[in-house]
Amino acid sequence: MTNSFPLCFSYKNGQAYLGDISLKDVVAEYGSPLYVLDSQTIIHNCQQFLDPLASSYPKSRVLYACKANLTLGIAQFLYRLGMSFDVSSGGELFTLIQADIPHDSIYFHGNNKSHSELQLAIDYGVTIIVDNLQELTNIVHLTIHNKPVRVMLRIKPEIDAHTHDYIKTGQLDSKFGIQKQDFEHFFKLFQSHSCVEFVGLHCHIGSQIFDTKPYYELVDSMMPFMSYLVKDLGLEISEFNCGGGMGISYLEGDSPFDIRTFMVDFTHYITEQFSLFSIPCPTLLFEPGRSIIGSAGITIYKVGAVKHIQDVKTYVFIDGGMADNIRPLLYDASYRFDKLHKKNLALQSYSIAGKFCESGDVLAYDVLLEEVSVGDYLLVFSTGAYNYSMASNYNRNCRPAMVMVDGLSIVPLLSRETYEDLIRFDKQLNG
Ligand SMILES: Cc1ncc(COP(=O)(O)O)c(C=O)c1O
Repeated sequence: MTNSFPLCFSYKNGQAYLGDISLKDVVAEYGSPLYVLDSQTIIHNCQQFLDPLASSYPKSRVLYACKANLTLGIAQFLYRLGMSFDVSSGGELFTLIQADIPHDSIYFHGNNKSHSELQLAIDYGVTIIVDNLQELTNIVHLTIHNKPVRVMLRIKPEIDAHTHDYIKTGQLDSKFGIQKQDFEHFFKLFQSHSCVEFVGLHCHIGSQIFDTKPYYELVDSMMPFMSYLVKDLGLEISEFNCGGGMGISYLEGDSPFDIRTFMVDFTHYITEQFSLFSIPCPTLLFEPGRSIIGSAGITIYKVGAVKHIQDVKTYVFIDGGMADNIRPLLYDASYRFDKLHKKNLALQSYSIAGKFCESGDVLAYDVLLEEVSVGDYLLVFSTGAYNYSMASNYNRNCRPAMVMVDGLSIVPLLSRETYEDLIRFDKQLNG
């Protein structure tokens, strides 16, 4: 069972620590708001996938979904742990290239990749996960110099992952993926263009999934189709990607499934099914993002004001908000909050409001915290995924810095933006 706290998190004499590093010292050095990652939690989360797979299904790879949170340092750290990667833009791909991640560890997603993104992917030699026929046609045109390109097809498994509407992707009306019945159009292109090498299929059913059942449904839905491709069309399915989406705990009552157990049970099921259908077992891929990095993150904010509205509520105003964590507004996401320094005081109810010029910029309503005063620091847990990667410069605010606590060292991952950064691309009017 995962936890909303990073593994190394604890309070010592009321002060928040990651291992032996005091978060008070970290924020004193790097300022606020600040994204903090715990390296031990990331390592642990990767091992939840990698260790069981090494024995139960060694022909496998775990791709980190870069959309969750990506910097050069994060990519390099994860690569050293044995992770591969999926990207969903040229920018993410460029980041991996700059981080020296080898081409054969990268898979490229997206439903509308531009020509230049495809060209970058082909030149670097990454595997492209094709979303639609136009994209495959574009790839064929871009491979005129006969540079071979490995492609997988993203197929709609047509199942419902029972998660928030905005983060489910496997159902028929999803904008992502190809309907199985349309496969013949793709097949024709594979037959007539030998440079485009079909390596297998990809499915992703959604995100923040708490139930393992949809993953099994995905396999059940894909097996007859894969059998048809192999036996009737003579194709080889050398790789099968079952996506990511494994849920994590944000609030106390959340109960995500145990990934270690799931990896063992699920790979047994996969092996059984491929044998039942008499088709060779492919290399199996997973692409988790949130379950790798989400629980490793804490955001630290400083309280600038406390506004009490008699008989209504008390707002705590923090120095960040919707621009560094859009998830409460985007998905009604909830988080666990606490104070950086606790003094064993009685709990009171607070609404945590951001500093952005929107009434909706409230990270949480009615959170129970010890008395909050101006100058206090608040901690928000499980903010490692989809916080920085979705951050904006709304109201021309600077995006926060990010550091990783790695044992006794604090590793800077991202500098705090400056006002100069904000106007870097602006043009002055002439005259
Ligand atoms: C295609 C694809 N793969 C992987 C992921 C990672 O999902 P998660 O971070 O929930 O594991 C996503 C996220 O939406 C995705 O769209």
